[in-house]
Amino acid sequence: MSQVLALKYRPTTFDGLIGQNSVTQTLTLALNQNRLSHAYLFSGLRGSGKTSTARIFAKALVCDKGPTATPCEECENCKMANENRHIDIIEMDAASSRKIDDIRELIEHTKYKPNSARFKIFIIDEVHMLTKEAFNALLKTLEEPPTYVKFILATTDPLKLPPTILSRTQHFRFKQIGEKDVVNHLSHILNLENVKYEEEALRMLSRSGNGSLRDTLTLLDQAIIFSKGNITAPSIASMLGLLDPKQLDYIFDIILAKDKEKIVYTIKELVDYECEVILDEIIAYLKSAFLNRDNRFSTMLSERFFRILSEAKNLLYLNADNSFVLSLVFFKMIEAVNIKTIDEIIENLENEKFRVAPDTLEVQTITKKSTREVKEETSKPQNLAVKSTSKTTLTS
Ligand SMILES: Nc1ncnc2c1ncn2[C@@H]1O[C@H](COP(=O)(O)OP(=O)(O)OP(=O)(O)O)[C@@H](O)[C@H]1O
Ligand SMILES: [Mg+2]
Ligand SMILES: [Zn+2]
Repeated sequence: MSQVLALKYRPTTFDGLIGQNSVTQTLTLALNQNRLSHAYLFSGLRGSGKTSTARIFAKALVCDKGPTATPCEECENCKMANENRHIDIIEMDAASSRKIDDIRELIEHTKYKPNSARFKIFIIDEVHMLTKEAFNALLKTLEEPPTYVKFILATTDPLKLPPTILSRTQHFRFKQIGEKDVVNHLSHILNLENVKYEEEALRMLSRSGNGSLRDTLTLLDQAIIFSKGNITAPSIASMLGLLDPKQLDYIFDIILAKDKEKIVYTIKELVDYECEVILDEIIAYLKSAFLNRDNRFSTMLSERFFRILSEAKNLLYLNADNSFVLSLVFFKMIEAVNIKTIDEIIENLENEKFRVAPDTLEVQTITKKSTREVKEETSKPQNLAVKSTSKTTLTS
């Protein structure tokens, strides 16, 4: 591998962009219907496609057949754009050139007509880094540039931009890229690279990348080396310091079986892991179980688990001791497995009634009514279930 994956697989067409449909749709329409603005702002998470989109858009503007959302890729303008050496596409990094003089130079540049294309395009990356004076110097040109000039500003932090800049640009927001899209993209790349993988491993990488495709691809570079060409869930777990999915299966097996002894043992085994990482992994596991309608977890039980986990995360922010928090989580979960809902209790009771007096319709109707009335859960279900063989207990 001579080049890092993030660069090797930088998209060069709108079709190649992942997970930014609303952005690409709007830009495509603008290009094809020739309704172009003179200044665009691309904002959003790092590594989500802003710079790539700016370059694709610039190429779409300069192509001989353009402006078009599907540049020909063959004309000299397209070729130069693809090789990042188009003289009329000027990229400026505002993180390193942030002063008023840099902007003055840029404005000077806008006064000369494009060399070979119909537009002269200025891509200003990390635009929020410009100084206040530099912003002010830019304003007038940004508002009324020469007809052949287009601006594309990009930033991860649009809140740092002065409102005067925001109001002079068409704003496109780039989203975090969803897990499914990321996983598909990774598997596509791994197939091209001839690297074997388990899909679960890709999901773990995607979660660690937090919706940034660049971050995820950087992890993938590392993963290919780390797992010696066969990317498995356990190898990624060990690379990222995460729990192996099988460990998570096991943890929930013993929680659902209310096996306190094994839980204690597991808590001891987990001391080397970061508690927050474990909690995040458990949350991701439950979320996926919930969405896949895993019948080990009823809606009610998942809800309780999620609440326990979010409370635990708050505790961590208060600097509580890691293994204390983990013990609390596991034992609260066991407790939650024990709790029955009013509905479950009533159902039990009804079954009981049927056994005792299958034909007492009246009792049944009353119990049904109380299901609706009593919405609260109870935390002392067993007692209630034992005592309440009469309708009075339920309706009281
Ligand atoms: N939406 C996307 N579709 C396909 N690849 C993407 C996407 N977003 C990011 N990438 C991958 O990540 C790399 C970096 O993307 P890009 O430079 O466009 O991100 P960015 O949003 O400009 O990030 P930054 O905020 O750090 O400048 C690309 O080369 C590409 O491999
Ligand atoms: Mg960028
Ligand atoms: Zn072209």
